[in-house]
Amino acid sequence: MTIQPNGHTASREERNKANLAPFANPAVPGYPTFLTAQPQPVGSLLPAEKFPQNANPPKAFEPITIRGVTFPHRLWVSPMCQYSSDNGHATDHHFVHIGAMAQRGWQGITVEATAYVPEGRITPSDAGIWDDSHIAPLKRQVDFVHAHKGTIGIQLAHAGRKASTLEPWVQVQHEEAGWTGGHVTDDEHGGWWKDVAAASDLSYDNEKYPHPKESSLEYIESLKVAFRAAIERCKKIGFDFIEIHGAHGYYLHNFVDPVSNVRTDQYGGNLENRLRLPLEMAKIARENWDKPLFYRLSASDWLDDVVGPEKGHPGEKEEWSWWGIEQSTILTQKLADIGVDLIDVSSGGNDARQQIKVGPSYQVPFAKHIKEHVKNIIVGAVGIITDPAQANDIIENGEADVVYFARQVLRDIDFPLQAAETLGAAVSPIVQFERAWSRMVVKRDHLKAEAHHEARSEVEGEEGKEGKRQEEKKKN
Ligand SMILES: Cc1cc2nc3c(=O)[nH]c(=O)nc-3n(C[C@H](O)[C@H](O)[C@H](O)COP(=O)(O)O)c2cc1C
Repeated sequence: MTIQPNGHTASREERNKANLAPFANPAVPGYPTFLTAQPQPVGSLLPAEKFPQNANPPKAFEPITIRGVTFPHRLWVSPMCQYSSDNGHATDHHFVHIGAMAQRGWQGITVEATAYVPEGRITPSDAGIWDDSHIAPLKRQVDFVHAHKGTIGIQLAHAGRKASTLEPWVQVQHEEAGWTGGHVTDDEHGGWWKDVAAASDLSYDNEKYPHPKESSLEYIESLKVAFRAAIERCKKIGFDFIEIHGAHGYYLHNFVDPVSNVRTDQYGGNLENRLRLPLEMAKIARENWDKPLFYRLSASDWLDDVVGPEKGHPGEKEEWSWWGIEQSTILTQKLADIGVDLIDVSSGGNDARQQIKVGPSYQVPFAKHIKEHVKNIIVGAVGIITDPAQANDIIENGEADVVYFARQVLRDIDFPLQAAETLGAAVSPIVQFERAWSRMVVKRDHLKAEAHHEARSEVEGEEGKEGKRQEEKKKN
């Protein structure tokens, strides 16, 4: 909307008489449609001079600045595959999905696992960034988030030995209808089952999953070229940060983990060799991207009860029997030394025998361990964090610096603003929604002390059960 002056300029007398006010609804400069400009980032603390309760805010709402990018608070969106892309291209689904998060005050919005080569998708409907044609629909999302003064990045991914599989609901619907066969997408439905690449030719599940090929050195080199090209596209799109996907049984996890890497060349055989590829990729990213760089890892295969200790064969050439917190801490230190800014601590997904002890905050001890042992990196916690006090306590207690949410975003899009209200802070809604938040945006002389400092809250038992069901189905 461009407001055209009507050619009539009122005199001062006329102005006074007619009660004229010389103000317009401000537009976001340069945005392709009219969009009301927001006075400050959505979900950010309102000025403490006006809102005394913000003088000593809950840590979850303290901004954090990384390489010059200020994240207005620490409740961030974990990447979530939507299996809704058109040959890798984002669609209107993604625009609404991400746009709603920006309007509702989420920060650190991480766009879902996005493949930098087509065979790096989990399913044919995954997001992609292997071609310049992927730029425009991603840029539309980023521009919208930035128009709301929000922060948005992308998870760059290669699915490794879990590629060319069915979208989760396609699998479930057909299993419910009686299908008992595999989960591999065939050629007629956009699959690439003959070209599934991993560290070694070991399947995640011989009965259901693809049988991958061991990646040749030429293939690994071609991935580095594609990864660099994807980073160039991220610059054109304007993302605030990049997260490298090194978790959940996908390509880089396949390399670091002795259960999926039995190579005998420089990329396998001992810890140093297994860590080589993720470190090379992180270095490529660091050299080509000067904004915040994050890495998501799985801190454990959860095989303690099945296989025994993580370091199973001390003194032998391959000392480690599976991937766990000790090696994750070593990897994190090396990533930090390369210049990776944040480690996003997840777990599981690389071995079907995993025994995950799912429950509220179940991965936080891994984040805490890494935070205690690696000093030059910011730590993110994720996994069944669903309650404002629970999230705030994790940060206040120094177990992590930021908290990621996935399913809670899908269940409760207004969580950040609700959390502010619960914790006794006043944050900015978008101006269009202000009237719905008058109960939060009130001046208070002191914090709701009981909300701010209460111990870790109880999270419903159902939540843990739901987590377990999800884990059993598929770990993304
Ligand atoms: C629908 C859905 C899609 C997901 N896709 C991704 C993904 O693209 N990349 C990733 O690293 N994790 C993915 N995950 C895992 C989440 O990011 C998160 O780590 C996990 O759900 C635990 O957090 P929560 O308990 O808050 O849901 C996905 C989870 C869900 C529910």
